Amino acid sequence: MKILVVCGGDSKEKDVSINTGKAVFEALKANFDNIECLICKDKKSCILSILNSKPDKVFLALHGGWGENGEIQAALDLLNIDYTGSGFEASCLAMNKFATKSILSNIKIPTAKACLIKDVSDVENVDFYPVCIKPNSEGSSVGVEFADTKEEAKQKIQLLLKDYKELIAEERLDGKELTVTVFNDTVFPIIEIKPKKGFYDYKNKYTKGATEYIVPAQIDKSVEMLCKSVAFKAYKSIGCRGCARVDMILKNNIPYVLEINTIPGMTGTSLAPKSANAAGIEFQELTKMMIEG
Ligand SMILES: Nc1ncnc2c1ncn2[C@@H]1O[C@H](COP(=O)(O)OP(=O)(O)O)[C@@H](O)[C@H]1O
Ligand SMILES: [Mg+2]
Repeated sequence: MKILVVCGGDSKEKDVSINTGKAVFEALKANFDNIECLICKDKKSCILSILNSKPDKVFLALHGGWGENGEIQAALDLLNIDYTGSGFEASCLAMNKFATKSILSNIKIPTAKACLIKDVSDVENVDFYPVCIKPNSEGSSVGVEFADTKEEAKQKIQLLLKDYKELIAEERLDGKELTVTVFNDTVFPIIEIKPKKGFYDYKNKYTKGATEYIVPAQIDKSVEMLCKSVAFKAYKSIGCRGCARVDMILKNNIPYVLEINTIPGMTGTSLAPKSANAAGIEFQELTKMMIEG
């Protein structure tokens, strides 16, 4: 079986994707003989290189943009090329935080109050402060801002709308930040995320030692069961497959889902592998499981 690890791309998360790709490529070598790694630049050359390589399975290690929003998944479906993780519909829904939240609310999964912002005048619909303002379809905490007042929100929205067509303004939740990794029918141990300074922004995500990770999270058994069940329902509700990570904030023992990541980071120190590790699954084994579906 020929495996092609695909990473890179042109999103703001391309460097993270290359790290994921390289780590996965190295790990897969332990279990498979025929592996190649493709660091691609844009969607057209990416598809052409995949076709050229004729893989039996593509390991998608792309983060953000067309690599995670369903576009490449749909293209691979059309070309009848097998790939890891969620299909195009789940990928598309997960990449749209507002769409994800609408589906979750519909099945009574807790999620913070939010408004979709396409124009600065939409700030008038926001009646909950403090507020978190973030791009509707981004990752790695890129573009996440907070505002205490309408005036401050307006300024931040104005700036963010220069880079993004859609934002969401979401009630700021102050609580324990948790992430739950789901792999098909299994929910791995919960990770509690404790940045040493500030919130879990890009720097705190990718700087070694900047954030403390507690696994399994120190929460009551009943709350743990609730968080796991909420994460699993969220994963199923949008139709995820393979490995996905559900980010949430626990406030007053209620797990509010922030978003679902259909291609979670997969470097040796990323969250999904950390969580699998706590379940006794080594990184090499996890990447093998992802190939096997
Ligand atoms: N409503 C919120 N209240 C408090 N913090 C938030 C809220 N939304 C996001 N954050 C913070 O921003 C980080 C990134 O937000 P998230 O929705 O997970 O987007 P992404 O990880 O795709 O950038 C979270 O991990 C959390 O630290
Ligand atoms: Mg997140």
